[in-house]
Amino acid sequence: MMDWTDRHCRFFMRALSPSAGLYTEMVTAAALTHGDAMKLLKFNVAEHPVALQIGGSDPVLMAGAARMGAAEGYDEININVGCPSDRVQSGQFGACLMANPSLVAECVRAMRAECAVPITIKTRIGIDDSDSYAFLRNFVETTAAAGCDTFVVHARIAILEGLSPKDNRRIPPLNYERVYRLKQDNPELRIVLNGGIGSITECHEHLAHVDGVMIGRQAYHQPWLLTELENEFGSGPVHSDRHQLVIQMLPYIRHELQQGTQLKHITRHMLGLFAGQPGARAWRRYLSENSHAPGAGVEVLETALRKLPAAA
Ligand SMILES: Cc1cc2nc3c(=O)[nH]c(=O)nc-3n(C[C@H](O)[C@H](O)[C@H](O)COP(=O)(O)O)c2cc1C
Repeated sequence: MMDWTDRHCRFFMRALSPSAGLYTEMVTAAALTHGDAMKLLKFNVAEHPVALQIGGSDPVLMAGAARMGAAEGYDEININVGCPSDRVQSGQFGACLMANPSLVAECVRAMRAECAVPITIKTRIGIDDSDSYAFLRNFVETTAAAGCDTFVVHARIAILEGLSPKDNRRIPPLNYERVYRLKQDNPELRIVLNGGIGSITECHEHLAHVDGVMIGRQAYHQPWLLTELENEFGSGPVHSDRHQLVIQMLPYIRHELQQGTQLKHITRHMLGLFAGQPGARAWRRYLSENSHAPGAGVEVLETALRKLPAAA
């Protein structure tokens, strides 16, 4: 998620859940080609398994970007066919590509030829008036024929004119049934459902129909959910309490501070850790007010922890 799932966020999420698959923010193929690719691709080995999400539609640039991502060690390269923003549409990528499945298929082929890691697609269930199961199925089957076998499907259409990206994650209604049907008709494909999922119970319901679930906003705002999901579905050792998790983050934070990272760039992702617990507001406020000061260090987190009730 743009501006949210940066490498600090992903390191924190990995600490919360040893086995969840993590995704980067979208990086454009053009930025990787013409910009500071090493900076854009930087991640911590602890983040594995981690997918690099790329935006673009030029098969040559997409292939080059996939090659760079795989060479840096990403476990999967994901193509963004879900973002509805104007900026993205003018660059001819994101959700508008659903209307051009053969171009996406060409990108998949070119990317697969350049690297050995899986090339996957994140998409919507439709765009604008193309709001039918047949449209989704044709998009998926055309790109699957090019060698993509995993689709993360945000179960809403994208409205390309007149809705902001934020409204496009809220206003078009969720249609889970369409995604279930896609899995039924394509049992050999890995179909991962996304959109509006916020609890373990909901995950169980969806997993009766699809192969996986992707959780965005709820995992960001209430990150402890990831630990609860790990307990329910995962295999990794998990933390028994949130304090312990914060303590585990400290060596990483100290190291990052030494490298010149500012504390606020890490703690901003940790504000929701105590959501719903006694002391949640005090935690959030203390971090927000004290992480920005020049030279702020891990003592900010240690003090914030001391302000919490012991059992939080
Ligand atoms: C701040 C923000 C940034 C996002 N950026 C991306 C992105 O870069 N790539 C992408 O595929 N989806 C992006 N999304 C969409 C989410 O991945 C997800 O599809 C959407 O929020 C619905 O899932 P949720 O209800 O679990 O949040 C973003 C969402 C948010 C809130």
